[in-house]
Amino acid sequence: MGAEIGATTSVFPFNKSMVDYLNATGRNKIAEFATLYKNDFLSADAGCEYDEVIEIDLNTLEPYINGPFTPDLATPVSKMKEVAIENDWPLEVKVGLIGSCTNSSYEDMSRSASIIKDAADHGIKAKSLFTVTPGSEQIRATIARDGQLQTFEEFGGIVLANACGPCIGQWDRQDIKKGDKNTIVSSYNRNFTARNDGNPATHAFVASPEMVTAYAIAGDLRFNPVTDTLVGADGKEFKLKPPSGDGLPQRGYDPGENTYQAPPADRASVQVQISPESDRLQKLTPFKPWDGKDGLNMPILIKSVGKTTTDHISMAGPWLKYRGHLQNISNNYMIGAINAENGKANTVKNLYTGEYSGVPDTAIAYRDAGIKWVVVGGENFGEGSSREHAALEPRFLGGFAIITKSFARIHETNLKKQGLLPLNFVDPAAYDKINPDDTVDILGLKDLAPGKNVTLRVHPKNGEAWETPLSHTYNAEQIEWFKYGSALNKMAASKKHT
Ligand SMILES: *[C@@H]1O[C@H](CO)[C@@H](O)[C@H](O)[C@H]1NC(C)=O
Ligand SMILES: *[C@@H]1O[C@H](CO)[C@@H](O)[C@H](O)[C@H]1NC(C)=O
Ligand SMILES: *[C@@H]1O[C@H](CO)[C@@H](O)[C@H](O)[C@H]1NC(C)=O
Ligand SMILES: *[C@@H]1O[C@H](CO)[C@@H](O)[C@H](O)[C@H]1NC(C)=O
Ligand SMILES: *[C@@H]1O[C@H](CO)[C@@H](O)[C@H](O)[C@H]1NC(C)=O
Ligand SMILES: *[C@@H]1O[C@H](CO)[C@@H](O)[C@H](O)[C@H]1NC(C)=O
Repeated sequence: MGAEIGATTSVFPFNKSMVDYLNATGRNKIAEFATLYKNDFLSADAGCEYDEVIEIDLNTLEPYINGPFTPDLATPVSKMKEVAIENDWPLEVKVGLIGSCTNSSYEDMSRSASIIKDAADHGIKAKSLFTVTPGSEQIRATIARDGQLQTFEEFGGIVLANACGPCIGQWDRQDIKKGDKNTIVSSYNRNFTARNDGNPATHAFVASPEMVTAYAIAGDLRFNPVTDTLVGADGKEFKLKPPSGDGLPQRGYDPGENTYQAPPADRASVQVQISPESDRLQKLTPFKPWDGKDGLNMPILIKSVGKTTTDHISMAGPWLKYRGHLQNISNNYMIGAINAENGKANTVKNLYTGEYSGVPDTAIAYRDAGIKWVVVGGENFGEGSSREHAALEPRFLGGFAIITKSFARIHETNLKKQGLLPLNFVDPAAYDKINPDDTVDILGLKDLAPGKNVTLRVHPKNGEAWETPLSHTYNAEQIEWFKYGSALNKMAASKKHT
């Protein structure tokens, strides 16, 4: 994983730890092969120059806690007490959550268990609720065999299913009421508003598994595990020992239960049967190919302001159960985004009836009337989890283009894959100039080519039309996706030809 600072990818020099890990996970051959190239491709190029160098001295870096409401806000633990009081963040830590795909390595689990053992040795239990979500069946089985899992449970921890769990809102939280202001600390990778428990008043903080465990023990955001003491059952003060734990299991990984069911050799005979009554599963119908025309006179479904993450575009929580049903899940499209016109979520005007309604309803009304529409957005549009639905939904609902100041890279590619046009204002001031009830044309699509801008013509309700260039990041292959209506359509078509 690379730092979330806009990096497209991260390269770590190949070293012994990676050899050991590949070996421990049954990939000796890859380790051997990589070792052959460790001084060539798998290390920094000799004499290479960088645009910017950021030096981080891990010896002096103290633990940080990020949040609430965005992973971009970071506070060192030594300052947390001061900063939390200053910002009126709830000081009591209600729940500590570790695991999910992030930070549930054997080492993470072992080090967290070591802190708990230490606390248990002093006769104390966690003040907060404590949940553990093993990131895979292999990790669950291995920590069950090696004892860490029992340590968590004896301490009052709740071991959840091997899944994303509360990280993406699969959490039937019972300890508070919706709307209650409260603090939780997790080792998940994001802390966007309402992401974990659907409660916008929850202050979600993100820290390493070790820090989360320490906070769950102390139950207080003001606690600094590096310097502060706790009181043991014997009434004596003690400091938590620094965490320790093996990087790799000494007895190797236990793969656990094999639940993979392979398809039969002759797949042509397989029929996918979906109950017509199902509200959770629905067959996908291929999107229509591009009609070869520019988009003309299109309404702006919503001009969103502020952060528009994939959580705003396609909310998690109760909606996740509809992931196999595009029609149903599309009813969450952009319901978290803030409308520039009125500062409200999920309240947009239908340009033709003048009536206000939810974003999905308005999109459906446009689509069913044969009207293509666009969305206008700000910076880093679509930051967050790489949710495919954030791109499938606008396409299903009849969207034509998403026009922003800038995109989060994965979301931009997802939109291209589904046959929508992700376009950028060359002049960011054009974003401010557009009114939510203008209509727009997108011109020049017949000549869509890598590196070549297209034109946005804006028709204000009253006044002269004006034009502004839009850039894009399409390469030649991706332009085919647009023309065919989606990447899948293109793949299916190439398969027919061969
Ligand atoms: C190998 O590289 C990783 C990532 O840069 C680092 O965390 C690890 O400590 C390194 N291991 C050794 C043995 O140098
Ligand atoms: C990797 O594992 C194999 C046995 O599975 C062993 O023979 C080899 O020495 C290991 N390599 C390293 C670098 O640990
Ligand atoms: C996430 O953290 C950032 C900065 O650390 C903070 O500004 C934001 O409010 C947090 N979000 C939530 C939902 O707690
Ligand atoms: C936890 O996960 C984040 C990525 O979301 C990673 O940057 C961080 O290093 C992980 N921390 C630990 C202790 O594994
Ligand atoms: C999901 O689909 C079912 C059946 O079509 C429908 O009754 C239900 O209202 C839908 N739910 C949502 C949230 O769209
Ligand atoms: C096209 O867009 C780029 C920004 O990506 C900009 O630098 C360039 O000036 C634009 N070209 C024209 C002809 O507007």
